[in-house]
Amino acid sequence: MNSMALTARQQRELDYHREHAAAAARQAFRPVGDDVIVSRQRRPWNAYWSMYDRLLACDLAGREVLVLGCGFGDDAIRIARLGARVSACDLSPESLAIAELRAQREGVEIVFAAMPAEALAYADNSFDAVVFVDILHHVDIKATMAEVARVLKPGARVIGDELYTHSRLQRVRDSAPVQRLVYPRMRGWIYGAQTPYITEDEHKIDEHEFSLVTERLTDLETDWFNILEGRLYPSRMIRAARIERAVMRPLARLGRLLAGRVVFSGRLAKS
Ligand SMILES: C[S@@+](CC[C@H](N)C(=O)[O-])C[C@H]1O[C@@H](n2cnc3c(N)ncnc32)[C@H](O)[C@@H]1O
Repeated sequence: MNSMALTARQQRELDYHREHAAAAARQAFRPVGDDVIVSRQRRPWNAYWSMYDRLLACDLAGREVLVLGCGFGDDAIRIARLGARVSACDLSPESLAIAELRAQREGVEIVFAAMPAEALAYADNSFDAVVFVDILHHVDIKATMAEVARVLKPGARVIGDELYTHSRLQRVRDSAPVQRLVYPRMRGWIYGAQTPYITEDEHKIDEHEFSLVTERLTDLETDWFNILEGRLYPSRMIRAARIERAVMRPLARLGRLLAGRVVFSGRLAKS
């Protein structure tokens, strides 16, 4: 771990993820499926698959790719299978130990390292691409993006699939009627046995934070997901997700206001 002292928020994340990894030790034996990288039948209604559509279009073979906040290593392993030279970091050494075991079992070489996203130990201009999946809502975005910009080469690809809610919509979600009346009724239906939010600090990134993520990017493309999915019906209802996608595609401008998830890609412009 980077010798820098952790912030209070990082320490809380570390404590949470230490316990989470201990409870999830069996994850080390969970195989990493490759549907999303090999299947010809794509799922454009699904944010994660759409992010992989962008990754596949980049041809990352032989490229230096950083997976930031890699957790149990699913994306690091998949991207290594695409032929990229993958470095993957996370705050949690316990999660990295699971990811490392999985990479060994899957027969891919990945350089794992424990460090906070806000203080990366990599040299300047190290990477051709960075991938974010469900990590930015755990970190200090301004500090993280400054570090990401430092370790990326000029013109490097930035690709992500992240939780998002516009601040105006969040105010509605936080309002007393929604919290008291709607949310308790919807929670079981939408999330089943899963816990929707885990650490006390995490929150979906809003439009201001998303601007900090994209402010240094050129060729920015954004795709907005989960306007109703995950809010009014569960993600397992695939037909509903397909209909939602078909209806919302022409109304893409509303995505920034209404979406619950954003998939994005761009290139780092370095001054
Ligand atoms: C929701 S998990 C996502 C993991 C992985 N990207 C995935 O999609 O499975 C969030 C991860 O962020 C890590 N994390 C939290 N705060 C961090 C920080 N400040 N720097 C680096 N990683 C952090 C946690 O240890 C955890 O592995």
